[in-house]
Amino acid sequence: MNSTFLFIGAGRMAESMIKGLQSAKGQNLSIIAANQGNKERLQHLFSMYGVETTTDWLHHVKESSVIVLAMPPEAHEAVLEQLSTMIEGQLVISVAAGIGLKKLENPLPPGTPVAWVMPNTAAETGESISLYTYADTLNENQVKLLELLLNSIGKSEYCSEEQIHKLTAVTGSAPAFLYEFASALINAAAGYGILEAQARKLVSQMIYGSAVMLQSGVSPIDLRNAVTTPGGATAAGLDVLNQAGFGMLIENAVKATNEKAAELGGKQENEEK
Ligand SMILES: NC(=O)c1ccc[n+]([C@@H]2O[C@H](COP(=O)([O-])OP(=O)(O)OC[C@H]3O[C@@H](n4cnc5c(N)ncnc54)[C@H](OP(=O)(O)O)[C@@H]3O)[C@@H](O)[C@H]2O)c1
Repeated sequence: MNSTFLFIGAGRMAESMIKGLQSAKGQNLSIIAANQGNKERLQHLFSMYGVETTTDWLHHVKESSVIVLAMPPEAHEAVLEQLSTMIEGQLVISVAAGIGLKKLENPLPPGTPVAWVMPNTAAETGESISLYTYADTLNENQVKLLELLLNSIGKSEYCSEEQIHKLTAVTGSAPAFLYEFASALINAAAGYGILEAQARKLVSQMIYGSAVMLQSGVSPIDLRNAVTTPGGATAAGLDVLNQAGFGMLIENAVKATNEKAAELGGKQENEEK
């Protein structure tokens, strides 16, 4: 059976998902991409992936099996309101930070199947770790379509809605923290006269190798200890980080990210408990 994915929002995340779905071989899929008027962007998606594009997404709701809201959290309220006039049981998936299931369900007709997915930037290379949850109104085929989307951009983990709110920073935003760290290392290398291109190559392989070590199942503390001789050079560097409260800084960054995501998604304080 042919399934049509309608993307409302045609930015970076929509493109990663479209790219992923296009390479999900053997699937009978159609894709329509819409935004709020950026025609160049739609032209780009058409020429890169051959998908149908429109600025009038409302007229494509009926023919769609899955509607993916790949736009900022602030845009959801108005779009859901419009969607509610046309939708007839199609699966609605949002990838926006801070949204949650209730925020999707409330404006839509009762029983509309909804899912919330929190991917990350590595979806672009098929290496996202995506958190997801869904309402119990999804039928078997809709769960399969959700899984198809998730698998097309990397790995995924089913979570409770509350866990996604708490983990948004850790999986969705922490890549930016890591890139900040990488950039600081590259700058430190530049201070010793190392060219940027060379430093970037070294730092990215260092991060990749460290990630592979982490995936082997050894704890980060054991891995850290394995490269830290007491009183040695690495220990001297770690002392600087710890004296500056590195762990606490990260904790505060996670908290600030989650609070902002909840605010942008319109999550009420009392929902967070
Ligand atoms: N990028 C990531 O790594 C990442 C990770 C996790 C979650 N997300 C979530 O994914 C969503 C999209 O992020 P992005 O990075 O793809 O953003 P983006 O590149 O800025 O794209 C946003 C898209 O939303 C469209 N849009 C905005 N308001 C709209 C409206 N009222 N109706 C229809 N389309 C509308 C924009 O259309 P125009 O261009 O026409 O204005 C644009 O196509 C956000 O909610 C974000 O939280 C992103």
